[in-house]
Formats: sequence, C-alpha cells, structure tokens
Amino acid sequence: MGRGRYPARLQVSPPSPEVGAHYLLIWPGHDFYHNPDAFPPISSPGLFGNDRPLEIDMGCATGELVCALAAARPEANYLGIDISLKPLYRAVEVAASRGLSNLRFLQSDMLMLYGRIPAGALRTAYVHFPAPLMRNRHRKQRMISPTLLQHMQRTLAPSGTFSFITDHEDLYAELLRLLPVAPGLRLRDPAEHEIALTDLLKSHYHRRWEDRGRPILRAELEHVRL
Ligand SMILES: C[S@@+](CC[C@H](N)C(=O)[O-])C[C@H]1O[C@@H](n2cnc3c(N)ncnc32)[C@H](O)[C@@H]1O
Repeated sequence: MGRGRYPARLQVSPPSPEVGAHYLLIWPGHDFYHNPDAFPPISSPGLFGNDRPLEIDMGCATGELVCALAAARPEANYLGIDISLKPLYRAVEVAASRGLSNLRFLQSDMLMLYGRIPAGALRTAYVHFPAPLMRNRHRKQRMISPTLLQHMQRTLAPSGTFSFITDHEDLYAELLRLLPVAPGLRLRDPAEHEIALTDLLKSHYHRRWEDRGRPILRAELEHVRL
C-alpha cells in the first residue's frame, strides 16, 4: 500500500468464529464479480435488518473512525470497508471489545461495490487518507474518480455528506477538478462542516501526517437537490 506500511506490519489474529460471524463479512472478488446479486445490498435493511441511517468508511483500515463514530452515535449504523483483511481483524477486535452492535466490517474492493449500494442508502460516506496513486498507470485503482463522485451523488440521501481528507495536495486538487461530474454534490464551506474532527476521530494516519507537519486537506460535499 506504499506510504508508511502500517497495516502490513500489524500483528493480529483472526477473530473467533462467533465474533467473525457477527462483525466481519468477506466478499471474495471473484464470486462478487460473477454474481453480485448473491450478496446483500449495502444498506441498513440489507446488512443490519433495520432502517437506521447508514454511514460507510471506504478504506477504513483498522476502523478507528467507524469504531469511534459507532460508539458515539448508537442511532446510526456503520460499515467499514477495506480491501485488506489484516487491519479488519484489528477493527473487529476493537468493535467486539467495546460491544458495538451497530457496526460491521466488509473485506472487499470498494471499486467493485458501488453498484451494490441502493440509491439514497447512505447518510455519510468517508474517504479519509486514501493512497494517492497519482501515477497514470495507477489511475484505475485510484479511489477518487468520476465514478466515485457519480455514485456518491446517487447513493447519498438528501443532505447526506461525502467526507474526504488527504495530506496530498495533488489528490485534493484532483477531487476539486472532478466536482463538475457530480453537480448534485456541493462543496461545503469549512465553517459548515458537519464532522468535527476531534482527537477521538483522528485515525492513525491522520495523527501520523499531522505530526510530520503534512497539510491536512478536507472537503465535505453535501448532496443537494438539483
Ligand atoms: C492509508 S490507509 C487510510 C486508512 C484510514 N482511512 C485512515 O484514515 O486512517 C488506506 C486504506 O485503504 C485501503 N484500500 C485501498 N484500496 C482499496 C479499495 N479498492 N477498496 C477498499 N479499501 C482499499 C487500504 O487497504 C488501506 O487500509
């Protein structure tokens, strides 16, 4: 994953079968690609069997953000998604130790999943500190893309929020450059930001880049009616 290989160095064990069955979904890429309809929709009814608002963290790594949010806001559901399994083991360990019942984790490639999210299913989607992948040859793996923004416009509920943070100036500029592809997403003024990033909500990467004096660049996009 480049840039500070923290998840690769993690020493964690898989959860027990009971804990894993409760918290962890694993959707093998090959099966999902060939038969996506065999998997539940990414929505509160589909994953939690209720109608609470759903928030997802794409590339959640060890799940610090979603664990903190799920504990602070029990009236909503949270889903952390990561392509890499090891950090999710740590995320599940934390969620289980805190007895969080409104939280699940999903191992899958986010880039394959957008079509499985029903229209209006999300209250908030977070992409915080994704790998920048600015080289042209990595373009197809980059999380920030026209496809992502168009799906955010489709899947966020009215007034829903897409929260993006990076320490990478070129990636931030790329997000702003792409905004016209999704005219239903309005860039909030920083004074209007809904999510106050207290220390509790700062992930390992957030603290790491902040400590190293990297810029912390945020954009909150709001789904508005056209
Ligand atoms: C630099 S970490 C950031 C983690 C976290 N969002 C944070 O703020 O600390 C990026 C994470 O994105 C995950 N990732 C990269 N590409 C992905 C994809 N296509 N689908 C899901 N997760 C992905 C990586 O495995 C890694 O855990």
